[in-house]
Amino acid sequence: MADLAAALRHAHPELEVVRKQAEEPVYLVGGAVRDLLLGRPRADVDLVVVGDAAALAQRFGGPAVEHERFGTVKVEVEGHEIDIATARSESYPAPGALPVVVPAEDIDADLGRRDFTINAMAIPIDGEARLADPHGGEGDLKEGILRILHPRSFEDDPTRAIRAARYAARLGFRLDPETEELLRKADLDTVSADRRRAELERLAGEETAPRGYELLAEWGLIELRDGGLELMQAVADLFEREHWAQFAPREEVLISAALGPPGGEELLASMWPPTPGEGVELAEQRDPVELALARAMGADWIEHYLTAWKNVTLEIDGNDLVEAGIPEGPAVGRGLRAARRGRLEGEVWGRDQELAAALEAARGVA
Ligand code: CTP
Repeated sequence: MADLAAALRHAHPELEVVRKQAEEPVYLVGGAVRDLLLGRPRADVDLVVVGDAAALAQRFGGPAVEHERFGTVKVEVEGHEIDIATARSESYPAPGALPVVVPAEDIDADLGRRDFTINAMAIPIDGEARLADPHGGEGDLKEGILRILHPRSFEDDPTRAIRAARYAARLGFRLDPETEELLRKADLDTVSADRRRAELERLAGEETAPRGYELLAEWGLIELRDGGLELMQAVADLFEREHWAQFAPREEVLISAALGPPGGEELLASMWPPTPGEGVELAEQRDPVELALARAMGADWIEHYLTAWKNVTLEIDGNDLVEAGIPEGPAVGRGLRAARRGRLEGEVWGRDQELAAALEAARGVA
């Protein structure tokens, strides 16, 4: 890029504050460099200081959260989140284990521990802004290639295979052939279920999530449920709409759409549409994830449930039943449910009819 310094100042003016406080070399690194070179906007940045991250952060005086094990600090500068890390190199005691971390002497050593060449570049923020690119990341970025830095990369950290799907889907990049060969051998079972799940969730959080999962399946790293990709796309479309985004956890629904195992959604989607009263009772016993999946599979009644039926309320409440002599306990719930069902079915109108229906149901069963 012709004028990296100007591009950096323009994209991240908040770094000026850091530059003024820095006594040791500080670099913009990782995804922030990649996105700057691609001209993609980005809110959060990662910095590496060849020195003490906590000491640098302290000079801003702002609130900072420190993660001692990795020597990283999170600070907020002018409303922007900045992660500052002490330059470090890593070694992996066993495949998939968390790394042993030691401070690095220079930025190249820090870049050498990273996942892909396009994420292993740095720009000093001292105003000179030359690109540190020991692994040829800029060339790979231009050609749209994902390439690991060394052959043991996926053994060290198999979650990088999931990260590869994230970048490939998001940026439309392809794998370098040697990287692909090694990636296909990645053993995701050597990482903890939590870490694996966290990366799968990040992938599901992408706009291009269905393509990312398709790639993981193509690479032989996951097995999709039958029709999983179509279901993912239908779920992604569903969550474009606000009421679904608020009702169910998008990432969890997408992962379930991709990987299964199939739950109650298949039954919900294949059953005869229930009446409003039945539908509400049925839906309330189900998990929002199942409901979203069933809706994406074509169960239109669930849309009515979410946008209309669910919001039907009664004019009476439990106190009215207790005042009318119903003992507190299950009879009250039974009565209220009956009244609501009557309202949803259009058989009950207004407060008096609600109360009558509720009392009848509450008293009706011993
Ligand atoms: N990194 C890595 N290996 C990992 C995780 C992270 O090498 N398993 C490095 C990469 O250099 C990456 C940087 O740490 O660019 C920051 O990680 P992360 O925030 O996960 O990635 P970003 O590239 O910033 O991703 P995004 O654009 O999605 O925020």
